[in-house]
Amino acid sequence: MEKRWRFRAIFETEKNMNDLKISIKKELKVFYGFVYRRFFFNPKIEKKFIDEFHKFYFYSRVIGNTKWMGINVLKIPLDLWIYQEIIYETKPDVIIECGTGWGGTTLFLANICDYLKHGKIISIDIVPYERPKHQRIKYLLGPSTSDNIIRNVEKLINKGSRVMVILDSDHRKEYVLKEIKVFSKFVTKGNYLIVEDTNVNGHPVSDDHGPGPYEAVSEFLKRNRKFQIDKSREKFYISQNPNGYLLKMN
Ligand SMILES: C[S@@+](CC[C@H](N)C(=O)[O-])C[C@H]1O[C@@H](n2cnc3c(N)ncnc32)[C@H](O)[C@@H]1O
Repeated sequence: MEKRWRFRAIFETEKNMNDLKISIKKELKVFYGFVYRRFFFNPKIEKKFIDEFHKFYFYSRVIGNTKWMGINVLKIPLDLWIYQEIIYETKPDVIIECGTGWGGTTLFLANICDYLKHGKIISIDIVPYERPKHQRIKYLLGPSTSDNIIRNVEKLINKGSRVMVILDSDHRKEYVLKEIKVFSKFVTKGNYLIVEDTNVNGHPVSDDHGPGPYEAVSEFLKRNRKFQIDKSREKFYISQNPNGYLLKMN
């Protein structure tokens, strides 16, 4: 064989061998994953490990030092990523947020809507902080369940709009339950009602909180068959909203 062709044949063979090695390595990884899940996975140990990390994260106070575009966001970023996935998939026309805080999450929602070139945010809070201005955001000032606020929200939603709701204001059970009852009516079929901070009162953090969002969701779902908890939205293992991603089924 001519020297040039012999060299090329060797090169091609080596390249094929490398490709083969890479694909064998990939297959082995999948196989190890299977063996691990089949024979070594222990849900109790995994849950304990995840809960310990959740507590470690929560008590580290890093949540108070998490920002979107320089503005405080009181959330675990993994939940924000889930928000992004939900908004992309469900394309709500209106997102209602009860409990604006500093407005970091509000701006995040508006920026996701910017990418989609679709959607607006109505955000409600009792405290008049200086908050980020954005053409997609409308701030309302007052208690989320007050008649005045509800009337204003109704006025801002056009008939036939797809609506998603996030509840993140007063976290006492009775208040959240009231908020769920009021705002679940705005949520449209195929969209989400997200009840934030269901992790408090020992789920698994803040054991001493007393009945809160988690308990409010449980009570609400005893009588309401229109919503279902979507556990798939907790896929990143730690979420501030265990049992808090509620999908409206009908
Ligand atoms: C946990 S913070 C909200 C955090 C924000 N959603 C975020 O992701 O960064 C709770 C907010 O709810 C507001 N709040 C408390 N009680 C409220 C009520 N009854 N109605 C509306 N907002 C309320 C507080 O002023 C506070 O800004």
